[in-house]
Amino acid sequence: MILGIESTAHTFGIGIVDDGKILANVKDSYTTESGGIIPTESAKHHELVKEKLLEEALSKAGITKEKIKAIAFSQGPGLSPCLLVGIRFAKKLAKELRVPLVPVNHCIAHLEIGNITNAKDPVLLYCSGANTQIISYSSGKYRIFGETLDLGIGNFIDTFARYAGLGFPGGPKIGKLAEQGKKYIEIPYSIKGMDVAFSGMLTNLKQKLESKNYKLEDLSYSLQETAFAMLIEAAERALAHLNKKELLLGGGVACNSRLQEMCRIMCEERGAKLFVPENQYLVDQGAMIAYLGEIMFNKGIKEENIEKLDIMPRQRTDMVEVSWK
Ligand code: ATP
Ligand code: FE2
Repeated sequence: MILGIESTAHTFGIGIVDDGKILANVKDSYTTESGGIIPTESAKHHELVKEKLLEEALSKAGITKEKIKAIAFSQGPGLSPCLLVGIRFAKKLAKELRVPLVPVNHCIAHLEIGNITNAKDPVLLYCSGANTQIISYSSGKYRIFGETLDLGIGNFIDTFARYAGLGFPGGPKIGKLAEQGKKYIEIPYSIKGMDVAFSGMLTNLKQKLESKNYKLEDLSYSLQETAFAMLIEAAERALAHLNKKELLLGGGVACNSRLQEMCRIMCEERGAKLFVPENQYLVDQGAMIAYLGEIMFNKGIKEENIEKLDIMPRQRTDMVEVSWK
């Protein structure tokens, strides 16, 4: 059994996986009423909940610690203070249980957990807080075919939400408001090839909000329709150029039901199949870290000399040698 620790940003999570089966997936997230995420505050949150979550995960899985063969942890990318809580906890457990560590890339874990939906060779539309990427596997690496040139889609939506006084995370709140929006308001649509950009749209939305001439519901609706259409255009272009027939969703923003609906329509129109993991596996959590950790461990990727390992706050998806595939 492999235990996985997630701590890159707002969420501290612990997952336990045995032979691809998820036995436990518990988490606790740092949230705010207003204002965004403060890295050191989030790290304090993780410190406070880590032991309790470990106990909870073990009891959910119905096992004792001694059954754990390796500890997988999110090595990066992420916020340094938060990553440090995770790696220190992972090292402490590894020493105590005399097991190796498996360093896992957070973004690739978001993608590999998609395997539980039985997608075989998909194009991945990865839409989380800090990341927005169109990724597909080719010759030993997850290659990025398109990505945001500025903000991640989630950070973009969260920033707008914060500006409107909605607190963090803003994605679900904007999603609810958007359902009540009736009027489409034109905002900048920005896509170059398979790359997208959101900062122009954010500035424009802030100005519209300040002008008080628009309803927040209509702005939320227009934000979603425009930003998601950009993502879908990029994803469709990738499907067409790579000649692939499967689209897989990943990342917290993929919980949004309108985004899922728009993806489904695009896939139906071009005879492709859409794969959407359950919401609990789209957002940050420990199960995906344990899941990929187990795959890597089974291929002999592990570190016995745990002091050698450090966090990698800026590790990119295409920096990782995918030697387990
Ligand atoms: P990354 O994976 O890039 O490091 P992250 O760790 O912040 O980013 P996730 O937990 O995958 O990523 O996603 C967080 C984002 O998902 C936030 O921006 C949040 O607003 C958004 N989000 C979460 N739930 C929903 C939902 N139900 N609808 C829309 N957005 C959502
Ligand atoms: Fe994430």
